[in-house]
Amino acid sequence: MSGRPVGRALPPFDSTMNEPVSGALPPLDSTMSGQPVGGALPPFDSTMSERPVGGALPPLDSTVSGQPVSRAPPPLDSTMSGQSVGAALPPLDCTNIEVDSGMDYHESDEDQVPSGCVSITSSVVDYQYEHGRRYHSYSQGNYPMPNDETEQDRLDMHHQIFLKMLNGRLFLAPLDRNPPKRILDIGTGTGIWALDMAEHFPHAHVIGTDLSPIQPTMVLPNCRFEVDDAELEWTWPPGHFDFIHSRLLGQSIKNWETYLAQMFHHLKPGGYVELIEHLMDVRSDDGSYPENCALRQYMHNLNLALEQMGLPAIATKLRQLVTNAGFVNVTEEVRNMPWGPWPRDPRMKEIGYWALLNSDSSFEAYGLASFTRVLGMTGEEARELCTRAQRDLKNKHIHVYNPNYFIVARKPFI
Ligand SMILES: C[S@@+](CC[C@H](N)C(=O)[O-])C[C@H]1O[C@@H](n2cnc3c(N)ncnc32)[C@H](O)[C@@H]1O
Repeated sequence: MSGRPVGRALPPFDSTMNEPVSGALPPLDSTMSGQPVGGALPPFDSTMSERPVGGALPPLDSTVSGQPVSRAPPPLDSTMSGQSVGAALPPLDCTNIEVDSGMDYHESDEDQVPSGCVSITSSVVDYQYEHGRRYHSYSQGNYPMPNDETEQDRLDMHHQIFLKMLNGRLFLAPLDRNPPKRILDIGTGTGIWALDMAEHFPHAHVIGTDLSPIQPTMVLPNCRFEVDDAELEWTWPPGHFDFIHSRLLGQSIKNWETYLAQMFHHLKPGGYVELIEHLMDVRSDDGSYPENCALRQYMHNLNLALEQMGLPAIATKLRQLVTNAGFVNVTEEVRNMPWGPWPRDPRMKEIGYWALLNSDSSFEAYGLASFTRVLGMTGEEARELCTRAQRDLKNKHIHVYNPNYFIVARKPFI
């Protein structure tokens, strides 16, 4: 489908550790000199392939604020190493493979209820190309971010950043007490979260939906992907899912009230939703975000374009909207992603490094189509602003972070 390796449940982080993900890490601004940050990247925790999903780690203080920039070399994340779900597993007996009678991956009739998804016809993969980037074709033009290889690598890297921010967890909802049987991941992207969930809950069916068929084709038997537009009416049965996950759809969903109402309707009583959105802006607690800088200009333009596209700034409103939709036990956690290696805390510094590396393509992913389609910029003008904004991130005097809002809520039992 996408030419990407199929059947891989993890992004190629290990292999890219020695080879930069999107080419070389851009040399950090000369103003960074004095800090040994322009050279080798901190190795991205090699335990990622055995990461402690749902495991308990000491809480990471994501509420970084105004922490002085450390001059220490980028540390290895020693706190993460040695943790592994795999280590706790008993030895594998390959000679006498017992049948798991509780495993109903031969789907019941009910599980085969068509969701209203479309089959992969040429209209779905007849992608649109603009300024050297590839965009989706199903529900054409609705989603202004690319779906090409560069974007897929960016999404996979962002998934690893989320794992870092959540101390290795895939979710914050209290699922381990009552493991879900049917899980839906809307706007699944490369499907990386859905695949990890299928591995974490082998007795659950995990469905990932997206406008673009950019997910692997060979996947775990309890995971499948569908091309579907989440803004159309959902055709799953009412009360079908135990857990619905929605991450980074701020550029995707126009009508959040309807979207949340559909989630509510198709969730079982007692089931959970988890929504994760970030602010379409950055913040600084030490006054280091200059009034007149390209980064601020970029964020201003981005919000202007999103507004004109009918995509509301959602992160800070989500909690109230989820409450209004009828959910209970609504919690909101804000975790800040430092954008650059400026925090002192070694783990936050590592997240900052990866966020900076991710920004190699994120400025363009968010800005290129929005600025050209909506604000009338040329491709060159849009790219130039993206480049100048990213350069600000590499300035060691600018200590900005991006707040991420994690909303968890339950559908009432009655
Ligand atoms: C920023 S990506 C996030 C991907 C994934 N949730 C993650 O966290 O890695 C947004 C995804 O939503 C998909 N999308 C956008 N609008 C959609 C819609 N109306 N219905 C379904 N998927 C949509 C896009 O194709 C894209 O893959």
